[in-house]
Amino acid sequence: MFTIITGAQFGDEGKGKVVDLMAGDYDIVARFQGGDNAGHTVKVKDEVYKLHLIPSGFLLDSRVLIGPGTVLNPEVMVEEIRMLEEAGVQVSAKKLGIDGKTSIIMPYHIELDGLREASRPEKIGTTKRGIGFAYIDKIARDEVHFSDLIDEKRLMQRLSDLASQKEEEIKAMGGDPTIVTESSLVERYISLGRKLAPYLADVSYEINTALDEGRSVLAEGAQGSHLDVIHGTQKFVTSSSTIAGSACAYLGVGPTRVNEVLAIVKSYITRVGAGPLPTEQEGDAGQHLHDVGHEFGTTTGRSRRCGWFDMPLAKKSVYLNGYTSIALTKLDVLTGLDPVKICVGYELDGKVIDYPPEDTSKLARCVPVYEDMDGWDTDLSSVVGYEDLPQKAREYVKRLENLMGVPVKYISVGPGREQTFMK
Ligand code: IMP
Ligand code: MG
Repeated sequence: MFTIITGAQFGDEGKGKVVDLMAGDYDIVARFQGGDNAGHTVKVKDEVYKLHLIPSGFLLDSRVLIGPGTVLNPEVMVEEIRMLEEAGVQVSAKKLGIDGKTSIIMPYHIELDGLREASRPEKIGTTKRGIGFAYIDKIARDEVHFSDLIDEKRLMQRLSDLASQKEEEIKAMGGDPTIVTESSLVERYISLGRKLAPYLADVSYEINTALDEGRSVLAEGAQGSHLDVIHGTQKFVTSSSTIAGSACAYLGVGPTRVNEVLAIVKSYITRVGAGPLPTEQEGDAGQHLHDVGHEFGTTTGRSRRCGWFDMPLAKKSVYLNGYTSIALTKLDVLTGLDPVKICVGYELDGKVIDYPPEDTSKLARCVPVYEDMDGWDTDLSSVVGYEDLPQKAREYVKRLENLMGVPVKYISVGPGREQTFMK
């Protein structure tokens, strides 16, 4: 069984919680793209875990893998391992594997990300974790691989080959290049490499052999479909491909092996950072979604922009990912809003369209066309089954399901593991 999970909107749909719930059924959970720009909060009993790199399935029995398409900050990784071990979760080499071809995020990537963002006339609002610059180096073939990091000689050679170029890049952007030349850099990274060396893995081989042996694999996406570097709302996107097909490419698994593609869809929409969000609400409804939904970024603490459910964007996600089912999250947040609006189309240049225009600047000019649904007042946080939902909430779920044309399989009504149920 090979299942891919991706976010259908702009990230923060609640993937972590759904993966955490499903991971019990999977032998392997693998991250396929992104880096510590992602963040998920997983709540188990009364403990809250904030993770950026380690997949959510970690807290269960599955083996977790970091695929070669990700960009890994070893300092963050070592810190997450330390935090989990402190909380009593053992992180053995049996538990965690990191692919040898994973690109390493170096301090100069973070420096360059900050410098570039500061100099951009129109900001993207990156998380300043060096993600984009680590991917630039991957494509330019100037990256440090995980296999380099864990081999002292190779690491010293690699960093010495790259030093002058990185120094020049930082200087050219008006930054302080001592971050590249300081003598402690090599030592620090050698030490991080030593700590992470036991986790070396060949992710494509592991996943394919696991599937051959009838074991099950869950590929966990980060960010969301409209932040995809190719199909998203350029240039307000991340620097990796976030859609389901990319799980195959990044993990090295053929598309013929995919059984299920699960969408994580928030019951409304949020976005962190810049870029168009046609249904954004700045008044009372937006405040309600923000406050009740606790819409703050896990990684940056920034306030998330909030709006009504955007069906044209959701339809595009269905096309981009080929979803077979949906997990609808945060339905409880809509309690108390009346009406609950669904954006079913946009008005653009005097025409009504039901699919996003091909260009981001056109999307920014789209005016939503709404359909009003009746709201409900009942607190949903202790609902444990679909039939227990108030009728108006079920009507809302059914309407989204019909418009997207994909069945809703899970519904979540709160952050706890027990607050997600099968429809
Ligand atoms: P970067 O990935 O740090 O380069 O940021 C590029 C854009 O993606 C910015 O708008 C970020 O706010 C957004 N972004 C990156 N990671 C996440 C995430 O995990 N959730 C939501 N937005 C994200
Ligand atoms: Mg997140």
